[in-house]
Parts: sequence; C-alpha cells; structure tokens
Amino acid sequence: MNKVITYGTYDLLHQGHINLLKNAKALGDYLIVGVTSDSYDRGRGKLNVRKNVLERIELVKQTGLADEIIIEDYVGQKIDDIRRFGVSVFTVGSDWEGHFDYLEEFCKVKYLPRTSGVSSTQLRNDTQMNYRLGVIGTGRIARRFMPEVNFVAGVEVTSVLNPDPSQIKDFEKLHSNPILFTDFDKFIDSVDLVYIASPHLTHYDYAKKSLIAKKHVLCEIPFVLSSSEAKELYGLANKNKMVLMEASKTAFFPGFNRLVTLVKSGVIGEVVDIDSSLSKLIVDKYSRELDESQAGGSVTELASYPLLSIIKILGCEIKDVKFYSKLKGGVDIYTKGVILYDKAVATIKLGLGIKTEGSLVISGTEGYVYVPAPWWKTDYFEIRFEDQNKNKKFFYGYEGEGLRYELQEFVSCINDKRSSSFKLSMKESILISDVIEMYRKGDKVTIIN
Ligand code: CTP
Repeated sequence: MNKVITYGTYDLLHQGHINLLKNAKALGDYLIVGVTSDSYDRGRGKLNVRKNVLERIELVKQTGLADEIIIEDYVGQKIDDIRRFGVSVFTVGSDWEGHFDYLEEFCKVKYLPRTSGVSSTQLRNDTQMNYRLGVIGTGRIARRFMPEVNFVAGVEVTSVLNPDPSQIKDFEKLHSNPILFTDFDKFIDSVDLVYIASPHLTHYDYAKKSLIAKKHVLCEIPFVLSSSEAKELYGLANKNKMVLMEASKTAFFPGFNRLVTLVKSGVIGEVVDIDSSLSKLIVDKYSRELDESQAGGSVTELASYPLLSIIKILGCEIKDVKFYSKLKGGVDIYTKGVILYDKAVATIKLGLGIKTEGSLVISGTEGYVYVPAPWWKTDYFEIRFEDQNKNKKFFYGYEGEGLRYELQEFVSCINDKRSSSFKLSMKESILISDVIEMYRKGDKVTIIN
C-alpha cells in the first residue's frame, strides 16, 4: 500500500484545503491527515484559530478524502508518524516549499500547488469584528503588552490613558499610533475594550467605570484586593453583558493548561500537596512594590500566580488559611501561606525581600509534577515517579512575553459571547481576591520578625 501523509490546521475548511486533500490522495492509495491540536497551534504562535480540534477533525472527515485522521501535537511528530505508519509520501502545499526537505531521509517529500486567493487567515479576517482597545496605564506591564497585541486578530490599541501628562509624554515616544488621553471620560468613549494596567488600588474604580460604560474589561493582577469588590464587578459585567477577565497570564499559557489537564486526568494520582513559590527581590526601598500606601507587599504583588496554580488544581473549596510574614517598612517582604483543603494542603512562598527557588511542585499519591523556576512562565515541566524510568518531560513553548494568550482568550470570549473562560473562571478569580483579602485583614497572619 502506498501511504500518503499531510498536515494542517484546517480551520474554517475551505476550497484550498479540499483541493490539497484531493491532490494528496491522488499521490497514493491511502491518505492520512494530521490535524494540529489546539495546544500545539497555540504553542507555535497560531493563536487565532476559530474552530477547536474536534470541529476541525469533523470538517476534514466530512470531505470524505481522508482514510485516517490523526492529531499532530508536538514538534518532531512528523518523523515519528512517517515511521509508525510506514508512509511513502509526505505532502503539503507549496507555501511550505523547502520547509520539510529534512523529511526526505524518511520518505518522498512533495509540495503541491497551493490554491490561490483563499486562506483561513483571510476568512478569519473577513468575518472578524475589529475592536478598539484602550490601555489604562503606561508602566512596565503596559509597555510589554503593546507589541503583543499585534499577534491577536481583530484588535488594535487605539487609545491609551494616564491621568499624569508627564508620564504619557514618555510613552508617546515609544508608541506613536494610539491617541493618548489624560481624561477618563474622553478615553472610554473612544474604545470598545479596556486593558487595565494601572497601579493596584486604581483597578476597582477603572473596572467599574468601564463596565458601567459597557466596555469589556481585561484587568491586570492583582485584579482587586477584596472578594466583595470582585463579586460586585463580575455582577456588573453580567448585568451589562460584558466580559470581565483577570489578566493572570499564566492561566492562559499553553504549557500551564496542559499541566492542569494532565494532573486533573489523574497522572499523579490524588493530589495531596502543592508547593508554589515566587520571589522577586526588590532592592530599591522606594519602589512601588514596597510602598504600603500603594498596597505593596509580597502578597498583593505576588500571590495571584501561586494562588492560581493551587486553585486550578485543588478547586475552590478552601477550608482554612494561615500566613506567616516578615515585615519591613509596613509591608510583608516575605510571606508563607498555608491553604487547607478537605483532603489536601498547599503552601505558597512569596518574597520581595527574600530570594527563593520559584518552582511549583504538585505531589500526588502516584507521582509528582515539578515545574522549575520561573514556573509561572510555564514552558517546561516534568512528571516524576518512584520508578524513574516512567518519568516524562513536557515542553510547551510560548511566544513573546506570553501576554498575547490572555488577550486572545479575552477577544474570543467576546466573539463567542462567553461571559467567562474555563481557563480562569469568575469563581476562581473571586477566590484569589478573597484569599488576598483574608491576608490583608490580618487575623490569619503570624508575624515572624
Ligand atoms: N492550503 C492550500 N491552499 C490554500 C490554503 C491552504 O493548498 N489556499 C494547504 C496548505 O499548504 C496545507 C494545508 O492546506 O498543506 C492545510 O493548511 P492550513 O495551514 O490549515 O491552511 P491555511 O488556509 O493556509 O491556514 P492559515 O491561513 O491559518 O495559515
């Protein structure tokens, strides 16, 4: 049998795909079609795919041209597939000319003529709303966010707000396109969506005013510092049919999502313990992170990611919390938190004035997951067992600063009219604010100075 194999995303299946599959089939007598998995596409920077892998497989199936459909999930899989299936011909469209010549070692490689004038990218662009995004704040995170927007289809930064004209002038030199505002009311009228990247204590007010003005809101971490504020804002978003999302970037990283699904599927048995750490040593004692009046401190600055890792795995039914803090200048420069569940316990270790290994360890009855520092930029993790021969290593790249994934999910929630993302639900986000609030109230805190 002469087996032919071809690969693609096959989003919004179009005539170009059908022509390619017909021509591929004609090269042999058995056609295998590899359809990319959602996480593989995200990991290689293809963020704007509309249909999920099951829908895309279904569409390829309906062409009646594929004898077998497989999922492509990792770099290097093509070689494995060619050997595994005994493939004689590998083929793709001519847009990939030369790219897969390395496969000639394993089978024939043929580039087929691409159908001109049609592509999934073009179809997505033709049917995509174009949103005007307003960025509130011009600090470090806003600056990192700006170039990431270019990778998300259907959204463009048109306006930037900072009430302090001296700070906005500096920003103007870096990013010339958006209109710069110092007045919130004028700013909000000029946009459809808002990304809040201003100091912590301004988040609640900006989010509330934006939601009242019926704008969708993506808000940086820490979202807000109390669960009542979080609940109120999500309630307002629901009432006004707006999407409100906490921009906890790790929650949207391809690697972190893979980790969560693997652990949830029981690969390490029942999870009994999680240890999640994050430290960022701040030497400038006048910095915002150490400023009590700006809600500085290790918990407000750093707890969102470690809490995310715990809540995503162990859920929202927390039984108790306890904290141990070292204080300096009115803020906690180090905090260890113990979070108790019915059948598990988790610890967070946070430091602005201490340095520690920023790793994540999830321990289960059959094995554990180890994510090395900086675990919150999850691109690699290991699953380890008593029998080391069973250990597995997982690599999941992310593109750029990794902020494009949260924006992409935000935009697709708006497009799909989903009020909340399963990657970071409203309930999980409220709980993160709740734990931060429990800390700030002080009665669960022991000082270790
Ligand atoms: N293809 C083709 N003619 C087109 C579009 C795609 O022959 N007009 C081929 C590609 O060369 C590839 C296969 O179809 O072999 C699947 O490609 P895919 O990347 O899914 O399609 P595109 O429409 O190019 O997608 P995108 O715009 O997202 O890159």
